[in-house]
Amino acid sequence: MPDSVIRTEGLTKIFEKGRKHEVVALKDIDLEVQRGEVFGLLGPNGAGKTTLIRVLVGLLTPTAGKAYVLGRDVTEDIDYIRTRVALLPQEAGIYERLTARENLIYYGGMYGIPDDELNRRADRLLEIIGLKEKQHYQVKGFSGGMKRKVLVARALIIEPELVFLDEPTTGVDTLGARVVRNMLKRLSEEENRTIVLTTHDLHEVSELCDRVGILNEGHLVAVGKPDELEEKFKAANLEEVFTGLVTGEGIE
Ligand SMILES: Nc1ncnc2c1ncn2[C@@H]1O[C@H](COP(=O)(O)OP(=O)(O)OP(=O)(O)O)[C@@H](O)[C@H]1O
Ligand SMILES: [Mg+2]
Repeated sequence: MPDSVIRTEGLTKIFEKGRKHEVVALKDIDLEVQRGEVFGLLGPNGAGKTTLIRVLVGLLTPTAGKAYVLGRDVTEDIDYIRTRVALLPQEAGIYERLTARENLIYYGGMYGIPDDELNRRADRLLEIIGLKEKQHYQVKGFSGGMKRKVLVARALIIEPELVFLDEPTTGVDTLGARVVRNMLKRLSEEENRTIVLTTHDLHEVSELCDRVGILNEGHLVAVGKPDELEEKFKAANLEEVFTGLVTGEGIE
């Protein structure tokens, strides 16, 4: 039986409701994500991807509709959800004065993970992201991509059942992005963890995502496996699907 980790029904988020500058950031979103899936959220700038993630982790309240994460209503049981779900925000702050290792340990410590376990996890993650040599350097001297990798590792140190990564590989170089993707793939395949990520890199999507949801102007305009969507929209590749749905050109 499918085990749905995320479920939304008619989920709607309107900013500045009733005002002249009202923005319908999410409109009637019905979405389900199953345990163990790598789910990619795609859409142009301003489509609503970050808003959707922020609603699902309880940082924003829905205007209408329902959202359940790990079977719990996000407006009722957010404490339950927050201890089991990790988030890498699009614009995540990092502790610049701490070292890479301290960033991981400090964050994990807030979740009550014992020190010896934290140290084991930090060793492994720092090795994987290739920052073992630099682990004792203050992060303020790191490049943008290096900081992003530390932040991905920081999100994963709590070994969450479900992780939201808002543009995890933005600013990360080609090799680094591959390392991050491989790490996420392993998490989903070997440990059955659920990953929801946003990206503007369609190559990343085809390498990593089991299914994708395409958002456009707050509407969920398509959901499915990349190859299913290509077939459905008679497109040669995901880029054609995406462009067609977002511009309305060349798609049936
Ligand atoms: N706090 C806010 N107050 C008012 N409007 C907001 C707020 N946050 C987001 N919006 C608006 O909601 C819409 C969706 O924004 P969102 O950040 O979810 O887009 P996105 O798909 O993540 O885009 P990007 O690819 O640029 O990250 C945009 O029109 C944005 O201006
Ligand atoms: Mg965003």
